[in-house]
Amino acid sequence: MSNREAMLEKLAALDAEHAKALAGGGPKYVERHHKRGKLLVRERIELLLDPDSYFLELSPLAGWGSDFTVGASLVTGIGVVEGVECLITANDPTVKGGASNPWTLKKALRADEIARANRLPVISLVESGGADLPTQKEIFIPGGAMFRNLTRLSAEGILTIALVFGNSTAGGAYIPGMSDYVVMVDGGAKVFLAGPPLVKMATGEDADDESLGGASMHARKSGLADYFAVDEPDAIRLGRQIVSRLNWRKQGPAPKPAYDEPLLAADDLLDIVPGDLKIPFDPRDVVARVVDGSVFDEFKPLYGSSLATGWASVHGYPVGILANARGVLFSEESQKATQFIQLANRANTPLIFLHNTTGYMVGQEYEQGGIIKHGAQMINAVSNSRVPHLSILMGASYGAGHYGMCGRAFDPRFLFAWPSAKSAVMGPQQLAGVLSIVARAAAEAKGQPYDEQADQQMRAYVEGQIEAESLPMFLSGRLYDDGVIDPRDTRTVLGICLSAIHSAPVEGTSSFGVFRM
Ligand code: COA
Repeated sequence: MSNREAMLEKLAALDAEHAKALAGGGPKYVERHHKRGKLLVRERIELLLDPDSYFLELSPLAGWGSDFTVGASLVTGIGVVEGVECLITANDPTVKGGASNPWTLKKALRADEIARANRLPVISLVESGGADLPTQKEIFIPGGAMFRNLTRLSAEGILTIALVFGNSTAGGAYIPGMSDYVVMVDGGAKVFLAGPPLVKMATGEDADDESLGGASMHARKSGLADYFAVDEPDAIRLGRQIVSRLNWRKQGPAPKPAYDEPLLAADDLLDIVPGDLKIPFDPRDVVARVVDGSVFDEFKPLYGSSLATGWASVHGYPVGILANARGVLFSEESQKATQFIQLANRANTPLIFLHNTTGYMVGQEYEQGGIIKHGAQMINAVSNSRVPHLSILMGASYGAGHYGMCGRAFDPRFLFAWPSAKSAVMGPQQLAGVLSIVARAAAEAKGQPYDEQADQQMRAYVEGQIEAESLPMFLSGRLYDDGVIDPRDTRTVLGICLSAIHSAPVEGTSSFGVFRM
């Protein structure tokens, strides 16, 4: 199978999973929702955004591989409202009444983190049955962070807006409660700490939904609603009006007004990554199809040649790029990366990491040559660097190589995977082989015979398991990336991310940890 065929097959499988997220709760619940005169979650978002602008959806595969619907009953993403890039979170009420399960919570908290790091105003489109009751133990206690984050964003000067379309009760009432601006839809919004049955139980009082938490009551009496919307489109209109009055200004430098498109076609990106990741590929072929004018000014091209480093720009934003050129990182590559990251910090230039690494080189010669301390220098530089980082997992991202190349735990502003990516502590065969060697040695130490047949079965089982757990859909389902993207969209996705990143100041540092020499 050609590289292209292998990639297209993976993209088709990815499309099928994305379609599940788009389908929400399925035809029965979608129809019921429309019959109630309500807009679907993506219809609300589309009306909120500027016409013909983009929406970069984040974590669409959240919950993949779990018992919950793909997408986790929440849509999050970056979109443009009245010319302002905003972080949008929106409940999907067709999925379990929009209730939040453990993956919904992870997705919501990740969205908050993106808003905070990149200084993006937050618009919450609320209609949720609150906590998913059967899994409440996983979400009730950590879920408090959703409300804490809203007010912390506000304290940092990042505006938060809640448009309440439906249920927002109990803890959910603190989404509007903690937001800077609140719009409620007449006849839809239900915002109360306790609904009529619970009030009856608690105090014996008879009350109805409207008097406890309707839009009219909150706009006229409690003051929790700042704006009374007559219907859903009116709420969206008011949301847009609020954003237009924020006088929002980006704090990062503007991109160059003119730049060239790449000289080589993005479509070729389907041909680059081999179906078998053991076969190396040249990331310069990727860079040439992603950066402005295909211009990549390489830094130290003759030194540490299995990591390409250099300067370029994407949609007019200057960037430094670190790209694995052959699988393994040696001492030279580690030190080159360390120096390059320091230079990017001096120049206040964001960094893009293109992953295809099996990790740092092992073996006697390399251990004696100080591979640990050199890898540590790179990890120190990545950890303490203050310019924004963007990571794209193109192929392998194994072992400490995932760390040195700014893996998820190193807080890249955004991390996306191609369908060809694989990430784990090591490759499946290597991991199964290590387990086998350890088991064999343990049997020998006890003087017991080693069961070769059981060993073969164990290796096959473990290889299958690790392979499945290394794949992008599995990792995306667990929120270890912000989405799996078509390689052809890489330039567009990076451009949107860079634009969003520049809502916040872009400043490097000269303060790193102690570099072990
Ligand atoms: N946890 C788990 N499942 C929930 C849920 C929750 N909090 N809220 C709704 N669901 C499920 C329902 O059981 C139903 O499942 P089913 O279709 O498989 O039978 C599905 O979601 C749709 O709910 P339904 O009541 O038919 O939808 P609705 O649009 O008419 O009403 C709510 C939605 C949210 C108003 C209503 O379901 C409700 O009041 N839920 C409980 C809210 C609550 O008290 N949450 C706890 C607050 S912390």
